[in-house]
Amino acid sequence: MNTLMRLSLQFPQWRTYCIKQCAFAGAEAAARGKPNYEEFIGNHHQQAQRSIVVQVSSEKSYAELYNYCSRFGHIVTVQHYSVQHEDELHYMLLEYASSEEATAAISSSAYNAELSSSGGGNGVPVRSPFLWFRAPAPGAGRRGQPKLANNQKAHALHTIYGTRALNHEALKELLHGASSIDQQLHLLYERTCLNDLGVRMRFLAALQVEQAISGMFPEALAQPFGSSVNGFGKMGCDLDLILRFDGKTTTTDQDIQREASRLIYHTKENLSNGRSQTQRQMECIGDMLHLFLPGVCHVRRILQARVPIIKYHHEHLDLEVDLSMSNLTGFFMSELLYMFGQIDPRVRPLTFCVRRWAQSCGLTNPSPGRWITNFSLTCLVMFFLQQLRQPILPAIGAMVKAATATDIRVTEDGINCTFARDMERVGFQSRNTSSLSELLLQFFEFYSQFDFHNRAISLNEGRALAKPDHSAMYIVNPLEQLLNVSKNVSLEESERLRIEVRNAAWMLESEVENTTLSESERREQSWGLLNLFKHPEKSVIRPNMFFKPRMVEVSDLFDKSQSQPPAINYKSPTVRQQVQSIKAAARSELKQLRESSTTTTTTTTTSAAKTKRSR
Ligand code: GTP
Ligand code: MG
Repeated sequence: MNTLMRLSLQFPQWRTYCIKQCAFAGAEAAARGKPNYEEFIGNHHQQAQRSIVVQVSSEKSYAELYNYCSRFGHIVTVQHYSVQHEDELHYMLLEYASSEEATAAISSSAYNAELSSSGGGNGVPVRSPFLWFRAPAPGAGRRGQPKLANNQKAHALHTIYGTRALNHEALKELLHGASSIDQQLHLLYERTCLNDLGVRMRFLAALQVEQAISGMFPEALAQPFGSSVNGFGKMGCDLDLILRFDGKTTTTDQDIQREASRLIYHTKENLSNGRSQTQRQMECIGDMLHLFLPGVCHVRRILQARVPIIKYHHEHLDLEVDLSMSNLTGFFMSELLYMFGQIDPRVRPLTFCVRRWAQSCGLTNPSPGRWITNFSLTCLVMFFLQQLRQPILPAIGAMVKAATATDIRVTEDGINCTFARDMERVGFQSRNTSSLSELLLQFFEFYSQFDFHNRAISLNEGRALAKPDHSAMYIVNPLEQLLNVSKNVSLEESERLRIEVRNAAWMLESEVENTTLSESERREQSWGLLNLFKHPEKSVIRPNMFFKPRMVEVSDLFDKSQSQPPAINYKSPTVRQQVQSIKAAARSELKQLRESSTTTTTTTTTSAAKTKRSR
């Protein structure tokens, strides 16, 4: 009762916003051509409710499956993908025109007789949108190859092998074939970003969790966030999910009637404190996922982390999932990033390139640790675009100022995530006309100069601030401004970032200036982004040179010897000259240092000897 009263008192003060289901989101979004975040999310959530996934023997099963499944309703689209286990397994994702039709297909499905207890197995009869298409019963007859009726031909298989990401060689080939660095940047984004099928699969994974608990928690919502929905996801990215037991805010007639109801659900009050309660609930959800949900495997519970999560693999979707129940700002942070990506068409390709570059030189790593995360790196790109003389992105503070009552969002734990969702109200217009390659070079130059030792990065202000503590890298968390997003980054990794951005700036400068390559040279030689991603391990300055100075002589960086990797061949004469003069200056400084240290040693030795003699 106390809980109830506390909540009802809070309600008028905080318009507690969890995750709003957008009715007719798809139609509105289509009408405007550019869906906002909530429409994008609502649209995909509804699409998942109209969809099923069916395992088939190969993509050739399409016509037969289409004919069979058409009996439940109008099929809007079918996409094929495969998953590599011991064999290659094939799947079709079907979308019906309505959720009722998808439900009819699911409800018509039988349980696997061999696995059921009556068949002697110990399989659990679980209902979910993940199905398989068995061969017709003997005698049912399947004469010849099934044909699609004329009116069905329009719905030919939309995608075949729709989740295959470009491998390294294919990407190299693609970038070789581009006509400029700018085109390489665009191609990299277009050909590696998460595609429509990837997004659909992620929303289906979310829906599976939601539906699994909907009997007990009809208001439950499993909400994707992070790179699966923020516009910065690449093919194969993980799925970040927030599960809320009371996530849906519906405004149906039933809800209005409910407010006046005199009948109140009996519910249990949780007596433990918030964190351990969440941990216990997550443990229970983890067991449920592990024991009952088809496709879910390798469930791992990481419950002691700041944000406790359950990690699992979905074998029918070939997907890694991170499920949390308490990281509510992640959803709104993803909205901010989604909006940034929509403000200007250069934002996403630039971020993709920076993330790829960081991966290629080992700055980022899929496992968590003391290195920079993709999220922090994305914040660095956003900040760079805010602080330009002609900014490409507004400061978040300006978006907060322009917010109106409809923009108020406060998470259940009281974190204010209010900012204007309508960019026209923010009144921000960029006059920046730089090309993508110019921006990429400026990005590297900017961070090779940035004073990470003393300055903190604030996306709220769009400018650097004095660093509030001694963290090696400080990025103010945009939605919880007392926290540092990059707190995990060690001094060594921060130093490494600085070195790598400087290397990249040198490299790219020479690439940008070098516009003289013929088409055939471009095909044969490594150029543009290919050089940026190539990263020969030894030619790059590693951080231990700073932290273990005795192990490596600085002069080693410049001396040419047999064991040294081949020197970088700078194509632009200007850059070549600049690099040579930097090296020459460094050599002469080193020489002077050596000479002065020898002189000092000699002087000290001589004076010591003199002292000895005088004694
Ligand atoms: P990839 O999974 O690497 O493609 O990128 P991602 O953006 O999804 O990153 P990740 O899965 O690590 O995190 C998911 C989301 O959680 C991010 O997009 C952020 O919204 C949020 N997030 C991640 N790390 C932090 C952090 O250190 N602080 C805060 N406040 N939020 C974070
Ligand atoms: Mg992620």
